[in-house]
Amino acid sequence: MKKVVSTFLLALLAWHTSPAQSNQKMDTFIDQLMAKMTVDEKIGQLNLVTGGEATTGTTVSTGVEAKIKNGQIGGIFSMSTPAKIRKTQEIAIKQSRLKIPIIFGMDVIHGYRTVFPIPLGLAATWDMNLIQQSARIAAEEATADGINWAFSPMVDISRDPRWGRISEGAGEDTYLSSRVAEAIVHGFQGDNLAAHNTMIACVKHFALYGAAEGGRDYNSTDMSLHRMYNEYLPPYKAALDAGAGSIMTSFNDINGVPASANKWLMTDVLRKQWGFKGLVVTDYTAVNELTAHGLGDLQQVSALSLNAGVDMDMVGEGFLTTLKKSLDAGRVKIADIDRACRFVLEAKYKLGLFDDPYRYCDEKRAKTVIGSAANHAKAREIAAKSFVLLKNENQVLPLKKTGTVAVIGPLANSGPNMPGTWSVSAELDKTASLVEGMKVVLGNKVNILTHLGSNLLEDPIYQNHATMFGRTIARDSRKEEEIIADALKVAQQSEVVVAALGEASEMSGESSSRSELDIPKNQQNLLKALLATGKPVVLVLFTGRPLTLTWEDAHVPAILNVWFGGTETGKAVADVLFGDVVPSGKITATFPRNVGQIPIYYAHKNTGRPYGNSGDFEKFKSNYLDVSNSPLYPFGYGLSYTTFTYGDIRLDRNTIDEKGTIQASVDISNTGNYDAEETVQLYIQDLVGSVTRPVKELKGFQKIFLKKGEQKTVNFNIKVDDLKFFDNNLNYVAEPGNFKVYIGPNSRDVKEKEFELL
Ligand code: NOJ
Repeated sequence: MKKVVSTFLLALLAWHTSPAQSNQKMDTFIDQLMAKMTVDEKIGQLNLVTGGEATTGTTVSTGVEAKIKNGQIGGIFSMSTPAKIRKTQEIAIKQSRLKIPIIFGMDVIHGYRTVFPIPLGLAATWDMNLIQQSARIAAEEATADGINWAFSPMVDISRDPRWGRISEGAGEDTYLSSRVAEAIVHGFQGDNLAAHNTMIACVKHFALYGAAEGGRDYNSTDMSLHRMYNEYLPPYKAALDAGAGSIMTSFNDINGVPASANKWLMTDVLRKQWGFKGLVVTDYTAVNELTAHGLGDLQQVSALSLNAGVDMDMVGEGFLTTLKKSLDAGRVKIADIDRACRFVLEAKYKLGLFDDPYRYCDEKRAKTVIGSAANHAKAREIAAKSFVLLKNENQVLPLKKTGTVAVIGPLANSGPNMPGTWSVSAELDKTASLVEGMKVVLGNKVNILTHLGSNLLEDPIYQNHATMFGRTIARDSRKEEEIIADALKVAQQSEVVVAALGEASEMSGESSSRSELDIPKNQQNLLKALLATGKPVVLVLFTGRPLTLTWEDAHVPAILNVWFGGTETGKAVADVLFGDVVPSGKITATFPRNVGQIPIYYAHKNTGRPYGNSGDFEKFKSNYLDVSNSPLYPFGYGLSYTTFTYGDIRLDRNTIDEKGTIQASVDISNTGNYDAEETVQLYIQDLVGSVTRPVKELKGFQKIFLKKGEQKTVNFNIKVDDLKFFDNNLNYVAEPGNFKVYIGPNSRDVKEKEFELL
């Protein structure tokens, strides 16, 4: 009761305190605190170290306890449980001179203990409400485990599926990624950062990390300002505009200056143009890595980074060990140390840590909230909605809940792979495998047989690299042909074969770039052998990125892309395969026909010699001799068990002015046999501009539910803001002239209409 009353009073207080008042209160509090701080204590606040549980680099923090006592640590990440965090916080509060609480961070990327689909899968739901709910649940669980700072959302646009970290973002599109970024920030931060169940979001990786040359992780980026402002920067800005309290620098070089030392980016763009007033933290040892980039020794690069506008140094301790010397040598100013220290302290203030440093250390809450049945149910619902049906010839799917099904492949029986990459708080050994999950759902209605089928990869060394961090997959030491022959005996006993193939979860994510994007050859051989049995084969594809599925598309009757669906993958796959849930996911990154087409994305420019997309080579056109320009599966694509028919676009007027709106409407009918959801997509093309414009850009989408036989009208309001872009002087303008509007179920199969901006 006491707790209820105090929570109520706090809420009332918050309600009565305007943001301006609380800023003034915060400023006064921090002024007074900083007046007591020595330079060393200020620099100490800029030091972020690991708690020793999970790290993503080769450096591990040491001497943490002594440093806390000396006021040399501002934040710790990758430490969890209320007990451990309380114990650590107590050192700061009871044994350091100024008793400044520590902020606790963690990579809470797609769930916490309850894991949701990898972000690329989450985006494929096109359901911002569900995505926000997933982040809300992640925040509920993480804060119950003592954590108050999430290193998420990752909003890096990527148009290169060779880059393993494409799995961690929302894909290739600027508009969609921006909406997803907002949803995640709202989910983590809620309305009140000082509540015990909200946490500060950290937008990453600023900036352009997803445009690494050749798709090789950590590689350089060189990009025109025009492209940056129009295509790559908006999602970071959207996340900050949604209120994200912090931002993380990226590892990469940007036009010659690595992000963590890039003053133009961190100060001119971020602080001055965008007005960001939160905390800037580096990525893992990114300051130290400036030396390898070629910018100087540790003292030099630490000074460069602080002067560029970075506030907090993750793990490398360049700030801790050199800033004082640089201050004495006149290479940094106290004003910059003060600025950085203030942003760290403000984050702690906003979280309410100065009021109650143990606010996030509630053992009881941890027991009831983390991994609750309700959270698991939501994870199952979201996972099923993230799956993308890529092919379904002759309605092979859904399967009937009778008879014998053989689930064959290296991904069939690996629970630890189901959560997907970047799920550091998942309980790998408690996660059901695909087969285990299917058995729970199907009970004794369906007889499930299973077999490894093939190794994940023929090369054991490659397989080791692809199954790190406990994400093991059993290995069979026999020759691949022998394993396949054995698996065929199991397939023969079934009516339907489910081939569980693709990537292991650690074949995408950080430092997991690939130069070939096919299903590994030995798995493909298994697939061919399974098809040769003449049984219907459904490919359940595990992947963290678009793969090149040209052969599979031509030969396998049904392909369900399930990404890595998180904790509830197995059950969710059963829900979709057996028709309890109708698939509705749509891909948010183009699937190429082969690696040579990369980078491939729908919002490309037309060129002066556009290709007609006939599929045949056209001399003196912008195309390839050996492959068409079209992707295998276009952005926004995904099938359903039902069919939808789109009527023609109707516009309520043909012209629009600065203040006006045009309504574009389309009738959509469910013409198949299942009630189902559909994502209706709106694209716009600026036909004539002062600079070249993409052939189309997503500017809206709506997810609708239609019962079989039902028809609905979907209306989109197009405003002048939807027509704006950054011109070559970086002015954000809408230029008068003609535009095309396209509406359809994906970026390729669209209806179109033209209108004019006066
Ligand atoms: C490196 C990764 O790039 C970043 O995404 C992550 O948040 C940090 N390590 C911390 O683990």
